[in-house]
Amino acid sequence: MYILIYTIFSGLAILPLVLYLRNPYFIQDLRYTLTCIAIGFRLERVKRSKPFYSMLDSFLDKVKVHPNKQFILFEKSSYTYRDADRESNKIARALSQHAVLKEGDTVALLMGNEPTYVFVWLALAKLGCAAALLNHNLRSKSLMHCFSCCGAKVLLAASEFQGAVEEVLSSLTEHGVSVYLLGVEEEGNTEGLKTLSNNRVQQTSDKALDTQLRAKVTIKSPALYIYTSGTTGLPKAAVITQERLYIASNMQAIAGVTSDDIIYIYLPLYHTAGFVMGLTAAMERGSTIVLRRKFSASQFWDDCRKYNVTVIQYIGEIMRYLCNTPKKDNDRHHKVRLAFGNGIRADTWSEFLERFGDIRVCECYGATEGNIGFVNYIGKVGAIGREHFLHKAGFPYALIEYDTEREEPVRDSKGFCVKVPQGETGLLVAKISSRAPFSGYAQNQQQTDRKKLKDVFVKGDQYFNSGDLMRIDHEGFVYFMDRIGDTFRWKGENVATTEVSDHLIMVACIEEANVYGVKVPGHEGRIGMAALKLKENMDFDSKATYEHVRTSLPSYARPRFIRLQKSLDVTGTFKQMKTGH
Ligand SMILES: *[C@@H]1O[C@H](CO)[C@@H](O)[C@H](O)[C@H]1NC(C)=O
Repeated sequence: MYILIYTIFSGLAILPLVLYLRNPYFIQDLRYTLTCIAIGFRLERVKRSKPFYSMLDSFLDKVKVHPNKQFILFEKSSYTYRDADRESNKIARALSQHAVLKEGDTVALLMGNEPTYVFVWLALAKLGCAAALLNHNLRSKSLMHCFSCCGAKVLLAASEFQGAVEEVLSSLTEHGVSVYLLGVEEEGNTEGLKTLSNNRVQQTSDKALDTQLRAKVTIKSPALYIYTSGTTGLPKAAVITQERLYIASNMQAIAGVTSDDIIYIYLPLYHTAGFVMGLTAAMERGSTIVLRRKFSASQFWDDCRKYNVTVIQYIGEIMRYLCNTPKKDNDRHHKVRLAFGNGIRADTWSEFLERFGDIRVCECYGATEGNIGFVNYIGKVGAIGREHFLHKAGFPYALIEYDTEREEPVRDSKGFCVKVPQGETGLLVAKISSRAPFSGYAQNQQQTDRKKLKDVFVKGDQYFNSGDLMRIDHEGFVYFMDRIGDTFRWKGENVATTEVSDHLIMVACIEEANVYGVKVPGHEGRIGMAALKLKENMDFDSKATYEHVRTSLPSYARPRFIRLQKSLDVTGTFKQMKTGH
């Protein structure tokens, strides 16, 4: 009897040890599981809510709970939650009077990062309208294209973009679009260009709007149109429904952000990272935002210190830019505890932690239009996420064999796709279902269909083709390997451009490298070209570069052409553009 009790007790005592040995990430896994269950319950409640409980309602609840809490800090001004609510009431009233907006309309925004961007979006939500977030770097034909594919009848532009608007004004008016310029002091009168001056907005009542104005909004209504750059062709407008907005806005909760945090938002608000993962997710948390017009590597940490920032976002190359700034004594002097984002390379990750101190890096993966995401909630360096049984049960996905030469998934004799063995690289596909819908691109059925893969494992099923090659190791960590299209073939071998650039930047004189394949007459495939940006005040060291490339890369992967450039072309989210195809 005693023996039995003894055995049970000692068994209990070593239970944590056993769990730990079987899975050293047990505690984090458990915490993640609980968070996901909580979010799942919240989402179910939102789905059943009548009237529909949108992100706007989530914001309005925060206004009720803490009206005087700081919401947006921007340059020299600051706005509380109540301020933002009132400002957006005024804009909504002014818009509904002058622009004759009605529920269900889409309004395009052409603005830079500023508090008014947030107020205007809240105003549109209060009127039951969807917002199309235009990339303000676009001009003429591309701008017109983005505008027309969301079907907007109204364009709201910040006065700084008056020139860009005037270029396309005649096409816009031809299509029956009303254009309003915001942020001007007085009413102006250019032919076809209306103004909604600050004076007029400030004279409008700030009383709350009738919720009847947005009574028809449901969880399936489009909330936003966000443009994805894509590797080819013109930008495509991804439809972000209220449901997707809600799910994606829970990203900060998953990453461990709380309402006490102060979040630094410098990424453009016209992209998912800035607007959804940053802004609306912060609204969901009820936290404080430090908004910045645009990223500045030299100002970054000063801003963090000045505003007591605790959470930062990153994307693509930002972390490397930060690591490349000159070292300072106060590099570790800040309150940033968490960085979340996407696309940090393993070497930069380690360097970042070494230099800037103990910051938890939470790498997330997900495409704007995709129906699948991963979160590396463990902080395992280099991984973009971790498999989780709940996630897998609710949102089935697979890595399948991909033929890079024929640029399509491998099919077996029955015509079905083939899962890769654990630990090997495959194309990530995610099942399209009512729980994981793929809303596609607005008014672009062809591109929408191209992202769908049919008859993947059984006849009639449909999967979203992420276009990303991944690897999942034996512990369940997910690694991003490459993006389809970011590879080229030379001498019958695949060359991953990111891999080559990773090696090039290890050479002392090289700051950035953009690698792509170019055609040479009389040869099959493409040969490697590397566009390089050198570090400040350094000359190109051809000998060191050659030696490094020769020793670190197989012969077929070595770039044969080098271009030295003052700067490399990057898109708004700092992804390198692969030109020269
Ligand atoms: C930042 O925190 C310090 C110390 O906690 C405080 O004295 C200071 O006022 C804070 N700054 C801002 C902008 O909130």
